[in-house]
Amino acid sequence: MGTMEIVIEELKKIDTFTELSNDDLSALAEICTPIQYPPRDIIAREGVDASSLFAFIKGSVGIWVDYDTDNADLLAVRDAPCLVGEMSVADQLPRSATIVAGPSLSGYSIDAVLFRNLLEKRGSIALSLMKGISRLVRLSNNSFVSELRASNAELLQANKELKAAHKQLVRQERLSSLGKFSSMIIHDLRNPLSVIRGYSDLLELKLEGKSESLHKYATQIRRETSRLSGLTSEWLDYSRGEIRLSYTPVKMEKLFEQLKESIEPGLKAKNLDVSWNINFDGTALLDLDRMLRVLVNLSDNARKACKRGDSIAFTALSKDGHLLIKIADSGEGMGKETLNHVFEPFYSTSERGGTGLGMHIVKTVVEAHEGSVDISSKPGAGTTITISLPLRL
Ligand SMILES: Nc1ncnc2c1ncn2[C@@H]1O[C@H](COP(=O)(O)OP(=O)(O)OP(=O)(O)O)[C@@H](O)[C@H]1O
Ligand SMILES: [Mg+2]
Repeated sequence: MGTMEIVIEELKKIDTFTELSNDDLSALAEICTPIQYPPRDIIAREGVDASSLFAFIKGSVGIWVDYDTDNADLLAVRDAPCLVGEMSVADQLPRSATIVAGPSLSGYSIDAVLFRNLLEKRGSIALSLMKGISRLVRLSNNSFVSELRASNAELLQANKELKAAHKQLVRQERLSSLGKFSSMIIHDLRNPLSVIRGYSDLLELKLEGKSESLHKYATQIRRETSRLSGLTSEWLDYSRGEIRLSYTPVKMEKLFEQLKESIEPGLKAKNLDVSWNINFDGTALLDLDRMLRVLVNLSDNARKACKRGDSIAFTALSKDGHLLIKIADSGEGMGKETLNHVFEPFYSTSERGGTGLGMHIVKTVVEAHEGSVDISSKPGAGTTITISLPLRL
């Protein structure tokens, strides 16, 4: 093979030239000058007018922007056989990138002026070049689109995280301002409440056997006042941000008796089918008031979740050194969203304006007792909440 044939064979390996006729290829081969570059040699510089394009046959080149600066970016590595630098020869604009030699780079340089003359004479070469450039544009377009998509997805994720952080911040802000004012307000609320409670006790006593309806009203006032004072205690615990327990030995009998007393009127009013399975009659070391509040909160939620005629079952038993208390209702149950947030302060789905502190207090109190709360719930089927407390006696 003569030198010319070798050049033609080599040019054919380049995508852009594959489809050219031998005639076109030999015209092209005539303006090719063999070249060889040592690694890292700068073949063409960004921003400089193009005096030639390159048909590389062996090795590879790096295409860089802002080469030699702190912002240097490697756009692509092109493996031979490939045509490089054809764009700025075609559009006669300065190079858009710097071309740097990789290892054992060799091929041909083609003079820009001679190449453009050839394009004018031979439409088929111009067409091949156009196809080659379109291919390149499409390729980089696709890679830009996928990069754009990837960074878009990252942005969306970041935005989501930012929103969640913002929500958390708003909640914390709310908590801290609440914390500052709560103790003060509660302090002021407790005194009038205990006076009302005292007088309603007195009224209830005095009306007993005298007027049934007035007696009933007095009972109602006393009960609701107790509830209010329970609420103020919750707020007080909450605003302090920590719970200091006062442990006493508590007989189960007593715990459930007190629980029944405070919740039964509400349960009866809704005509719920309530069952008690207290299979543990021992004593546990608990903070009685707080644990009662936990059970009242849970019963309250169960009652709110139930329609008339639904059922609530209370179970207590001891297992592996733990006291397990279960409250199972056949009410509306919880969806995934509610389950995810149920313990968060101020999370409430209640349409009648729940504060959303009930479950938060349940968890805080139970965990202060070194116990745990477990929820199993299914929308439409009901909810079972199990609290487990270490039996220390
Ligand atoms: N047994 C249950 N069945 C169905 N949903 C429940 C149950 N217990 C809790 N939830 C859901 O969890 C939410 C949070 O409960 P939580 O007791 O903290 O607040 P609340 O009852 O809405 O208000 P409050 O502060 O007055 O108790 C409720 O709004 C409800 O959506
Ligand atoms: Mg509640």
